[in-house]
Amino acid sequence: MKALVKTSEAIGYEYKDVDMPKIGPKDVLVKIMGAAICGSDLHAYHSSPNIMKMMQLPIVTGHETCGEVVEVGDCVTNLKKGDLVSPEPHIFCGECYYCQNSAALNCLNMGLLGHTIGGAFAEYMAVPAHVCWKHPPGISYELGAIHEPLGVGVHGVMSGEINGKSVAVFGCGPIGMFAIGAARVFGATKIFGVEVAPKRVAMARQLFPDATIINSKEQDPVKTIMEATSGLGVDVSVELSGNAEATRFCFQALKREGRVSLVGVHPKAMEFDFHPNIILKEARVHGVFGRVIWQTWWQVRAMLDTGKFDPLPIITHRFPLAEFEQAFKMAESGEAGKVLLIP
Ligand SMILES: NC(=O)c1ccc[n+]([C@@H]2O[C@H](COP(=O)([O-])OP(=O)(O)OC[C@H]3O[C@@H](n4cnc5c(N)ncnc54)[C@H](O)[C@@H]3O)[C@@H](O)[C@H]2O)c1
Ligand SMILES: [Zn+2]
Ligand SMILES: [Zn+2]
Repeated sequence: MKALVKTSEAIGYEYKDVDMPKIGPKDVLVKIMGAAICGSDLHAYHSSPNIMKMMQLPIVTGHETCGEVVEVGDCVTNLKKGDLVSPEPHIFCGECYYCQNSAALNCLNMGLLGHTIGGAFAEYMAVPAHVCWKHPPGISYELGAIHEPLGVGVHGVMSGEINGKSVAVFGCGPIGMFAIGAARVFGATKIFGVEVAPKRVAMARQLFPDATIINSKEQDPVKTIMEATSGLGVDVSVELSGNAEATRFCFQALKREGRVSLVGVHPKAMEFDFHPNIILKEARVHGVFGRVIWQTWWQVRAMLDTGKFDPLPIITHRFPLAEFEQAFKMAESGEAGKVLLIP
């Protein structure tokens, strides 16, 4: 089968023939219907050091996906052929300290789909049945493919109280926009989005007319947020840019005793002054890595069930897998929302 493989530390991927993945007794074989490009795939494409440390080469990449179960291992009881599933890419063991303490996202033996375990930029993928989220019948595979990044945005927003709170989301890429949608559905009262790419600023303004979307190249985001919150700052800042300057802003725009959820992946270490930004403010800092398994997936479903936020318009481009170079260029241009690769 054809797949996108990271074969070396060199920049880019190879589109090549690889063996069909084989399933074990507890696995399922999934025929991939589409897979979305994630910010971390862009980091992997460019071989950025923080992501390369997590990868085991050579590896079939991609992890945000949806597909049909076409083969079922002998011991699998929860899935059958024809089911539409999306994998939780944090392949948790179910047996370690964290898995036994309702914290599977911090599993000590975690495999990462598309990083350490063969992924979804391919025609087929073998995954353990216990990491598959089964979609209700009738859902589109495109909506299925973005459940995982929707979950990242939802977890960023829901990792503390949000109902009745003011919130600022830094970085209005696809996950930033998912986070704004989640904040709205789950009851935030005042919402700000901060972004530098003009097309994404325009997209976020169109999708969320009741939020204040700030182009931080044209307008000081901290000043704007302070003025709109009686000089107090926001209750919650969600960092979804991975950019050092935006990360500093997200602390500066925070109310005292507010909560910061750090989600964006920084390509390298950054300088940061703890004293004014965390200590003097008694800020609550929350690291976000993936989704709470399976709580966040249920929250994503609950959010979609309200019908108050349709994330599908955030998918703006679809490319055949073979045209991945164009797809990745589009994904990092700042001109697109989510980009899907179709095998
Ligand atoms: N922690 C996790 O589990 C996890 C999971 C998935 C993705 N991520 C990370 O979350 C981030 C968001 O994901 P995405 O897919 O939307 O990525 P993305 O790269 O498409 O979006 C990031 C956005 O931030 C904007 N940005 C850059 N500099 C900025 C600045 N100074 N001020 C404001 N905005 C700025 C960019 O223009 C872009 O629109 C990425 O860093 C990604 O790697 C983290
Ligand atoms: Zn992802
Ligand atoms: Zn575990």
